[in-house]
Amino acid sequence: MRLTYTSDVWYKNAVVYCLDVETFKDGNGDGVGDFHGLTQQIDYLAGLGVTCLWLMPFFPTPNRDDGYDITDFYSIDPRLGTLGDFVEFMRTAHDRGLRVIADLVVNHTSDQHPWFKEARKSKDSPMRDWYVWSDTPEPDDPSQVVFPDKESSFWEYDEGSGQYYLHSFYRHQPDLNVGNPEVRDEIARILGFWMELGLSGFRVDAVPFLIENVNPKLADPHEFLQDLRAFMTRRKGGSILLGEVNLPYKDLTGYFGDGLGDQITMCFDFVGMQKAWLAMARQDARPLAAALRERPKPPKDCQWAMFLRNHDELTLDKLSEEERQEVFQAFGPHESMQIFGRGLRRRLPTMLGGDLRRIKMAYSLLFSLPGTPVIFYGEEIGLGENLDEEGRMAVRIPMQWSGDGGFTQGEAAPVREVPEGAFAPDRVNVADQKRDTNSLLRWFQLLIERYRECPELAWGDSTVLDTGHHAVLAHRCDVDRATVVVAHNLCDTALDVEVTLAGLERCQLTDLLVDDTLEVADDGTARLPLGPHGCRWLRASPPEVPPEDASVKAQ
Ligand code: GLC
Repeated sequence: MRLTYTSDVWYKNAVVYCLDVETFKDGNGDGVGDFHGLTQQIDYLAGLGVTCLWLMPFFPTPNRDDGYDITDFYSIDPRLGTLGDFVEFMRTAHDRGLRVIADLVVNHTSDQHPWFKEARKSKDSPMRDWYVWSDTPEPDDPSQVVFPDKESSFWEYDEGSGQYYLHSFYRHQPDLNVGNPEVRDEIARILGFWMELGLSGFRVDAVPFLIENVNPKLADPHEFLQDLRAFMTRRKGGSILLGEVNLPYKDLTGYFGDGLGDQITMCFDFVGMQKAWLAMARQDARPLAAALRERPKPPKDCQWAMFLRNHDELTLDKLSEEERQEVFQAFGPHESMQIFGRGLRRRLPTMLGGDLRRIKMAYSLLFSLPGTPVIFYGEEIGLGENLDEEGRMAVRIPMQWSGDGGFTQGEAAPVREVPEGAFAPDRVNVADQKRDTNSLLRWFQLLIERYRECPELAWGDSTVLDTGHHAVLAHRCDVDRATVVVAHNLCDTALDVEVTLAGLERCQLTDLLVDDTLEVADDGTARLPLGPHGCRWLRASPPEVPPEDASVKAQ
């Protein structure tokens, strides 16, 4: 059967918006964002045009890793509200047509989780085997440690019970042992619980860590991912796993489920993301073009998730040392901006020097690259960072709703401080940008609207085109005889490039972002004039067909 409707595989051209309830909107004046506040902003999110919200962890937590250290998977952090508030939020989101997914952090728990407290009581504890223990710290490579500022090993000695436990991240985050079938069942129960409350899927934290280093080793670690996905599909068709799998392409395809596509539904394109930053640093599109050409096509019904920034550092771990230094030089030269020796704790607009043209080009690129765009709250208004906040928290600052901040109405100090200066709330906020047709917020709305109108971008076969100029990335996306051609100028001088568009001879190219039309010549060539950091999204249509009718329609 050939039939697939875009809405059956909704995630393939979704627009995913990641937010932390804690920093989005405070509804009760205690300085901490909450579900009540978030619910009040649902119309803002629906108006922006995003189609799926990804909530960062909202579970009870001692908060030593911003909620990625969980003490109860079946409840809500009381600072953020109650289960009742959560359900009200879900109801409102669904009413506005928004799907919701949540972070699934089951590689580890907090060391304060009752399971770990029980497990560490003694070697004979009935829950001992829920975690990974060893009599000796297994040899490990300190250079592989994820948080080298705080840790130098994956193993921590537990005085009380006289063994070492595994922690892939901080020592207060002991790894769960998915080698134990009871743990695997419990994880399925957690998924089932939140799906019953309306979630459409999960962003799976640290996937490779989750399935490796378990005891006993799983005969096929990927079978566990298959089982999880199958379980979810049985419960609710169309539910997804969005995986944090930061691996080179060749090692990553197995996480989709080679050929079958029966494991992680969407994987973040960490390699493409890092090459995009290298390309922007060099004002040379070739590193990104090469990554796109090399990137494997995901199995049917799977998809790449595209992003430029997220809640973590901008990791540059897949670049060579030299390339990383180039990006550091261009976008984060001061040591205070760098972290873990591999990344930058900055948001995009500050890195691009607040240059609105360049920022708009970067997001146009993000939305037009083949895949599903994922944005981090505040990107739509050009939120900056606050380097005074600790480590990765620099980018997890309160959302700026109005000139006076607008995150909280209470007297209590907000959970984190907003930046001062050029990125302070009086300079960067939602209310002002709503009234300004030239604002970044309006640009996001346009990009999202066009992206949704052009399923070709997400669905189509994409081809990187030769442009004859290193600074320009051009690609075309084709599906069912409909074509969108996209071009981005990564440098700050105007350029006129020529591309050859096989099969589109004599077509019209209608610009979808500004009022303009270009022609494809008889020999299939087209000239694309691009301003400094200019971008174009062009719909191809034969002369006798109105451009609107040449597009693939969502069904
Ligand atoms: C993931 C998250 C990160 C968190 C870590 C440990 O990498 O993105 O924020 O600290 O997992 O859970």
